[in-house]
Amino acid sequence: MNDELSRVDSMATQLGRLGAEPPTLAIVLGSGLGSVADAIGDARAIDFSAIADMKRTSVEGHAGRFVRGTLAGTPVICMVGRIHAYEGHDAHEVVRGVRAMRRLGATRFVLTNAAGGIREDLEPGHVMAIVDHLNMTGLDPGVGLSDGALGPRFPNLEGAWDVPSIDAMATFASAHGIPLTRGIYASRMGPSYETPAEVRMLRALGADAVGMSTVLEAIALRRMGASLVGLSCITNRAAGRPGAVLDHHDVQANAARMASAVGALITCLARGEHR
Ligand code: HPA
Repeated sequence: MNDELSRVDSMATQLGRLGAEPPTLAIVLGSGLGSVADAIGDARAIDFSAIADMKRTSVEGHAGRFVRGTLAGTPVICMVGRIHAYEGHDAHEVVRGVRAMRRLGATRFVLTNAAGGIREDLEPGHVMAIVDHLNMTGLDPGVGLSDGALGPRFPNLEGAWDVPSIDAMATFASAHGIPLTRGIYASRMGPSYETPAEVRMLRALGADAVGMSTVLEAIALRRMGASLVGLSCITNRAAGRPGAVLDHHDVQANAARMASAVGALITCLARGEHR
């Protein structure tokens, strides 16, 4: 399984050819949020399909490319779209892109996603900063890696999500009228949406929002010592809540409407990075 390290490093070398200055901030754009990458200056892009060992994304709303360039003066790298376990990929394949961006030099990551709001006050259009997570996928990207390969075997996930960055975003959000709240994100394998009973279970377990991504990336990145920010775009009320609409086209359209707010929050973080 230490082959995984060579795959990741060969991917990092391929991404390295896109630009001279190593990125410090890395971004993963989830469903419907691809347009956030349009704000990246001096952009150079490469499709997932052009990179050996990177899986292609088969999900509508996920372009499937890496973009490098600058945001608010900070060198950044961005995955426009991601790989999900529900596409039939194993945990290593799901996180290979973020591992490569980390090996390329990025120390801070912003992971974005679309999610269903479980907590009563979470409505479509709200952005939830992830303060903790529940891994309900049954997978872990550390499985099979030896101790020391891509980090320690038993990574500590306490404090995984960076509170000072969340505080900085919260100040920015209230000054700019962006509805940002904090909460706990639960990741399921998918691709089926939850039943109302499953949403009640997740609520009882402490989840505020639910989606099908992000957590495996977060675990892999914490193992590698990266600092994390997670932004969930609440695109719908979760199953069983009155008025819940569970439809991928709807999810995508609602996330797309939130792209400018999410872009502004990411730019705020990039600006902080530059100072
Ligand atoms: N459940 C799971 N994943 C999601 C949802 C949801 O309600 N909305 C967007 N992604």
